[in-house]
Amino acid sequence: MTALRHRSATAIALVAAGILIAGGQNAHAEPPSHDPAPHQQWSFDGPLGNFDLASVQRGYTVYAEICSTCHGMQHVHFGDLAGTGLTAAQAQAIAASHKIPDGIGSDGKPALRAATADDAFPTPPVAQGLIPGAVIPPDQSRLAEVYPGGPDRIYALLTGYGPPPPGVTPPPGLFYNRFAQARAIAMPPPLSDDAVEYPDGTKATTEQEARDVTTFLAWVAQPHLAERHRTGVRVMIYLVFLGVLLFVLKRRLWSNVY
Ligand code: HEC
Repeated sequence: MTALRHRSATAIALVAAGILIAGGQNAHAEPPSHDPAPHQQWSFDGPLGNFDLASVQRGYTVYAEICSTCHGMQHVHFGDLAGTGLTAAQAQAIAASHKIPDGIGSDGKPALRAATADDAFPTPPVAQGLIPGAVIPPDQSRLAEVYPGGPDRIYALLTGYGPPPPGVTPPPGLFYNRFAQARAIAMPPPLSDDAVEYPDGTKATTEQEARDVTTFLAWVAQPHLAERHRTGVRVMIYLVFLGVLLFVLKRRLWSNVY
């Protein structure tokens, strides 16, 4: 009898210990799958934010010379570049320097033509899934909006490559990056010092390139941000004015009522 009681007491103790251990494991949250991206100061931050168009233009240089090899922007048109401060003629010239598919030629082969301002940016073969076995790079038209962590994390990701800590080996074909999901990514480090030459003479460090291309991606994702902010400010001024007017009116109307 005592032996039995002893055994059931042991069983209860074991179950309790099990629950405690399981609970303890739950209480220890999983280590986060990537480092949190530090917050950056962006020209387009906050309710009065406005895009630094010089940075947007430099960012376009980085996109055009580096990112566009792998990433498309199917919702952005060459003509949209006029909004970065380029003239319509400059945007047209950039468009014309790109060849895009144009049906089947008279020789029966796929034909190409020069793009115009009305054409969308082409999607490179790898982003169309045409390279067997290659991981598909996401379209960049809205990436700054839809990528978890937004511009801060894009900047962190672009500058976050480096040797893995001791004992960590990224899976084959992936690169260690402490800001990528599970700290490994299929994209090889796209930026390096002097990877581009800026027409405005700005020194092209990796950080500068990352900052500019991130600003560019934020701009393509919401080209009307500045306009919306201006409208917002006008609406606020109008509402404050209306509020003051109504207050004065109310005082007048009720001034002789006790
Ligand atoms: C050599 C091809 C290549 C180039 C060049 C390239 N990328 Fe990528 N990029 C990829 C691939 C492939 C992925 C998908 C990675 C994955 O899912 O592991 C990717 C993913 C990304 C992501 C999303 C990351 C994620 O965690 O899903 C961002 C942001 C990005 N690229 C930005 C850029 C920018 C900005 C440039 C230009 C500076 C650039 N890439 C240049 C191939 C490339």
